[in-house]
Amino acid sequence: MKLGFVGLGKLGLPCAVAADMKGHDVLGYDTNPKTMSKAPRRYKETGPDGVASFDPYLEASAIGFGSLEDVVDHGDIIFVAVQTPHDARYEGITRLPDERVDFDYSHLVRAIEQISRVVKKQTIVSIVSTVLPGTIRRLILSVASPRLRICYTPSFIAMGTTMRDYLNPEFVLLGVHHEDAALTVEAYYKSMVDAPIVRTTLETAELIKIAYNTFITMKVVFANTMMEIAHHVEGADVDEMTRALGLAHRRLMSPAYLKGGMGDGGGCHPRDNIAMSWLARNVGLSFDLFDSLMTGRERQCEWLADLMCASDLPKWILGYSFKADSNITTGSAAVLLKNLMEERGYEVGLHDPIVDGPDASFDPAGPVVALIGSAHKTFAKIALPAGSVLIDPWRIYNGDTGDIEYVPLGARGTP
Ligand SMILES: NC(=O)c1ccc[n+]([C@@H]2O[C@H](COP(=O)([O-])OP(=O)(O)OC[C@H]3O[C@@H](n4cnc5c(N)ncnc54)[C@H](O)[C@@H]3O)[C@@H](O)[C@H]2O)c1
Repeated sequence: MKLGFVGLGKLGLPCAVAADMKGHDVLGYDTNPKTMSKAPRRYKETGPDGVASFDPYLEASAIGFGSLEDVVDHGDIIFVAVQTPHDARYEGITRLPDERVDFDYSHLVRAIEQISRVVKKQTIVSIVSTVLPGTIRRLILSVASPRLRICYTPSFIAMGTTMRDYLNPEFVLLGVHHEDAALTVEAYYKSMVDAPIVRTTLETAELIKIAYNTFITMKVVFANTMMEIAHHVEGADVDEMTRALGLAHRRLMSPAYLKGGMGDGGGCHPRDNIAMSWLARNVGLSFDLFDSLMTGRERQCEWLADLMCASDLPKWILGYSFKADSNITTGSAAVLLKNLMEERGYEVGLHDPIVDGPDASFDPAGPVVALIGSAHKTFAKIALPAGSVLIDPWRIYNGDTGDIEYVPLGARGTP
């Protein structure tokens, strides 16, 4: 199929490359000329075979780049993956602001207006960007040329594994406005993946996308609540609990994200909850679950700050990426913890050899209180000065505990 990709950022480019790998004829356009080149990016990910990284795929790929007009002329389907950003206050690394807002749709609206200006024939435009329920009808259909056949096909991908997730989804989501357009988009996905296709209205698709992300936050906040309870109840162990619940696949679903640790982060989950909290207020929802989830995430960080402050030793956070073995710090709960500690007047050192490179040194002059903020494998044996306290929300440390105080959260041993 001939495909156009408008917006070649962290999501659009890997998807375009994946489509090219599957034999589609791909032409891409981005307003930022730097993204329209085969130069390797700082952003890296593991390839679909689990071994190769993203850059070699980009180098090897044959995707072309052109003007917006070229791309719109070229494509049987034009995928639009431009940013729908949020204010920095809604990233999830600072306290939850009282004021809530929707995402900023100006880039998406502008992209659709620009496509509308250059389109010469009936053309399918499939929006990939994340939007809140009701947005496409409210803001996009009204500015789209009558020649555009709009669909909504958001992707359920995690940062760092975009191509792998795009090529191996649990299901494909297709929000339909024009039946004929939906048939073509469905044919494209059938050529790409062997997964069920959920066809629904634009609004339900918008809701499914955001429900997926906020459900993950709900699981993480739940698991962390159980970790805190297990920490207070002598003899209780959070990992045994989550392993058991993870087996309850008939009633409770998969064990994924069911792990006591830090709050979830990344470029999507915290902000999606905050935007949904805005929507909850906007429609006068009887109970704002999203506010509760974000408040729970923040309070759990406060509890970790309490544990660190119980010691007078200098404070360190080991790992501040938003997830294990990743260098991405967007929306990281470890950064939120650092900010909460600084609010209390403490200086906090950050050490992360994955974010800052293998040369990042951690050589404190004396004992410290350190908390493992990201479950990087390298911290399983981290060496601390004698007399230090190591707080481990992930329970990954298995080094020497002879001359340090090791505090695995939610794993208090037998009473
Ligand atoms: N990155 C992810 O892992 C991820 C996951 C799920 C959903 N999303 C959603 O996908 C969308 C894109 O996210 P991203 O992370 O790729 O953003 P990004 O900022 O990395 O990339 C967006 C790209 O769109 C380009 N752009 C903006 N306006 C344009 C226009 N008018 N014409 C052409 N190009 C234009 C920008 O220059 C940029 O390169 C967002 O709505 C995001 O919420 C992202």
